[in-house]
Amino acid sequence: MIEIQNVSKKYPTGIQANSNISFTVGHGEIVALVGPNGSGKTTLMQQMLGVLKIGEGTILIDGKENNVQNIAYVPQAPAIYPALTVGESLLATTKYLGIPKKEATERIERVLKKTGLSSNAHQPAYTLSGGQRKLLSFGCMLVQDATNLVMDEVTSMVDVVTKEHIWQLILEEQSRGCAILLSSHDISEVKKLCTKLVVLRKGSVIFSGSPKEVRNEYCHCTINVDDATQAQIILDEADCSYTHDGNDFSIVTRDIVQLLNLLYDLTKSVTICSLTCEHPAFYDGLLALLRKPEVK
Ligand SMILES: Nc1ncnc2c1ncn2[C@@H]1O[C@H](COP(=O)(O)OP(=O)(O)O)[C@@H](O)[C@H]1O
Ligand SMILES: [Mg+2]
Repeated sequence: MIEIQNVSKKYPTGIQANSNISFTVGHGEIVALVGPNGSGKTTLMQQMLGVLKIGEGTILIDGKENNVQNIAYVPQAPAIYPALTVGESLLATTKYLGIPKKEATERIERVLKKTGLSSNAHQPAYTLSGGQRKLLSFGCMLVQDATNLVMDEVTSMVDVVTKEHIWQLILEEQSRGCAILLSSHDISEVKKLCTKLVVLRKGSVIFSGSPKEVRNEYCHCTINVDDATQAQIILDEADCSYTHDGNDFSIVTRDIVQLLNLLYDLTKSVTICSLTCEHPAFYDGLLALLRKPEVK
């Protein structure tokens, strides 16, 4: 389990990379960390791994501070030695962790099989394709057998088949009970994998919740009314955006509850002749969240 409590980080350059971040990643959970470039995702992950000093706040891994034994990481850019072979790269990771030889050999065999890199075991890393390098980097995380896993844009720049393969491996780690935090710009990946979503902007959490709640972040409906002037008066006062063409209105609200309340208010003064309501899609909800104006 990963617990992030009121974490803030200021680089010596004066850049405040993150401020007062709090969330948890429980065992069996996949939490997606989403946000534009520069919003502080990599910084937070490096603080969790002990690569960077935490700064302010506390990070607990399985309830303990500075407990980096049971957390493994796939960095944004694969950190592999080009001259080492695939097998040697995995071996180097096990040696670094002090894993006994017999156990290390078993783990390496298993990871080569899982990642589909068995036939590349004797190939130097510099001869691998981009997707194979990502798989090797993923393998270096797997071979640690940790139950807290952090993955920084693990499927960026990989082909769809490799992506599906990595997703399958992530789901296997989830079913093993791992606590998983992954950053991603791929909305279909987030939708497929995550059980919880944390959205960062400029180093602050602007949303934390389930994918279901994300869908409720945005709602769109079209209506036809008998009295356009009266409808406009009500809509102008409401907290929504709308366009209209004669008596046909297209309305966007923050969430379903707000839309239902608005429709109820409208029915008090106008007749709604027709109504079409889209169930908000995850994609639109997440986009609406990321585009939300900043609260000053
Ligand atoms: N080593 C560093 N020194 C100074 N500033 C940095 C360093 N690494 C990242 N930053 C800054 O911190 C902010 C967050 O960066 P980062 O954590 O890499 O964001 P993300 O992973 O979301 O793209 C950015 O403004 C970035 O320029
Ligand atoms: Mg990053």
